[in-house]
Amino acid sequence: MRKEVRIIFYFLILVYILIPAWIPQILWSLILVLPIVVVGIRDYFQKKHSIRRNFPVIGHFRYMLEMIRPEINQYFIESNSDGRPFSREQRSVVYQRAKKERDTVPFGTQKDVYEIGYEWVNHSIAPFHVKPDMRVRIGGPQCKQPYEAALLNISAMSYGALSSHAVEALNLGAKKGGFYHNTGEGSCSPYHLKHGGDVVWQIGTGYFGCRELDGTFSPEKFAKVAAHPHIKMIEIKLSQGAKPGHGGILPASKVTKEIASMRGVEMGKDVISPPWHTAFSTPIEMMKFIKSLRELSGGKPIGFKLCVGKRREFIALCMAMREAGIQPDFITVDGGEGGTGAAPLEFSNSVGCPLTEGLVFVHNALVGFDLRKNIRVIASGKITTGFDIVSKLSMGADLCNSARGMMMAIGCIQALRCNSNTCPVGITTNDPELMSGLDVQSKSERVKNFQFETVKTATEIMGAMGVRHSRELRPFHLMRRVDSLTVKHYGEIFEYLNTGDLLKANLPKSFERACRSATSHSFMALEDLRTNELNVI
Ligand SMILES: Cc1cc2nc3c(=O)[nH]c(=O)nc-3n(C[C@H](O)[C@H](O)[C@H](O)COP(=O)(O)O)c2cc1C
Repeated sequence: MRKEVRIIFYFLILVYILIPAWIPQILWSLILVLPIVVVGIRDYFQKKHSIRRNFPVIGHFRYMLEMIRPEINQYFIESNSDGRPFSREQRSVVYQRAKKERDTVPFGTQKDVYEIGYEWVNHSIAPFHVKPDMRVRIGGPQCKQPYEAALLNISAMSYGALSSHAVEALNLGAKKGGFYHNTGEGSCSPYHLKHGGDVVWQIGTGYFGCRELDGTFSPEKFAKVAAHPHIKMIEIKLSQGAKPGHGGILPASKVTKEIASMRGVEMGKDVISPPWHTAFSTPIEMMKFIKSLRELSGGKPIGFKLCVGKRREFIALCMAMREAGIQPDFITVDGGEGGTGAAPLEFSNSVGCPLTEGLVFVHNALVGFDLRKNIRVIASGKITTGFDIVSKLSMGADLCNSARGMMMAIGCIQALRCNSNTCPVGITTNDPELMSGLDVQSKSERVKNFQFETVKTATEIMGAMGVRHSRELRPFHLMRRVDSLTVKHYGEIFEYLNTGDLLKANLPKSFERACRSATSHSFMALEDLRTNELNVI
């Protein structure tokens, strides 16, 4: 598009130079058209707005629509009814914080506080000032290079799903703001390393970046990449909330020559990662894999990411951690409400546990097996505000990741074209023309601003609650209206276990079935294993 627009502008300029200006009609049209040409040239060369850079002149219509959108919203696109995952309120707060615009709201509470499901935290009469530069140490006793993480970081999004400009802007933002940037499963590209931001290298089932020709895991290639000083932690991806149990999808239209060679795949075909890992097939084997990654990386923190599915399988992982004496340093819990570049609708909408239930379960299982002390829990799934952070930390997380919040910070307008290579703002496209509209420097500032302002607000909320550090947050801090006359805190809504509860003979009722049927030696249920054995005999 930028190419066509350029041609039209040069053509118009040429016409006005060549045609003699004494023809009155031409003079008139000059008066009409010249301002448009000037606006177009200005749009084309400015760096703040990708949509205006990519679509000079017509890009302004979006801003005009935005001006009248509050009224339109009442009828058409209020909240989520327009099919966009984030409400107008959520989008606005990200844009305002990213641009360092005024982010206060006028007139008062903009929520129905009597609505069922309304959540809040109670403030204190004796609040504190809490510094926004709070850090959480990731790295248990088995790790030699612990990492001090920020409360909000950039969630996994691959180069390929995102353009190189988007990856660069995110990484530079992470560098400027002092937080980490997860590579996503599509390998650690040069764009993730160029600016020096802290990187979490994600390894998915395709083992991109550390893969043998047959698609299996290569320890030698892994060790070589993992040694890079910008890579601070390694995350094994088991599943993600938007398509759990499916495996990654990169549509053929987005597979460039560079991406194909980086991932070791063919061009012209969708890149589909398998839904399962080939480096391990049982919980115990997975722990051994974690141990080998830790050794191969020189002792960097190793964790895994999952959207909670079968509870028994996670219990089996906890059993394996205890049995093998090997623990991950962190676990990222992704909610079923999470985002993706491309996924089948049914998987996005109807597979995988939502974040609240998944997070509370993972926290409890780790506490119950007395494993929580050295494992940090990271939450992701529609986290865009300071309150989102405080609420997830109260439920049981230690820190948070955001994917689409960060995308909005670099200009995502939810055009919902991530799976088609035609993203108008140059974020989820590898079309060089569209991507050139995204200016790395100015967008990196927005990433930094969004993260900083959001974390600052989270720490201000903690201060208002009389809480000095995120580790003091507890389930009883978070309130929820459960019916029109009843309010409960999260400690009342969910059962929170005591340390070691799942190691006792008398198991809590809610965990009994999952614990009795789990085994560290298989992801299958014990009863199914026995039936299988009988069948074999
Ligand atoms: C464009 C895009 C690409 C993504 N790629 C990956 C990926 O490679 N690996 C992964 O584990 N999650 C991936 N995700 C999921 C996010 O990391 C995150 O778990 C999820 O979007 C929830 O966060 P959000 O609600 O803040 O977006 C992707 C999400 C988006 C929007």
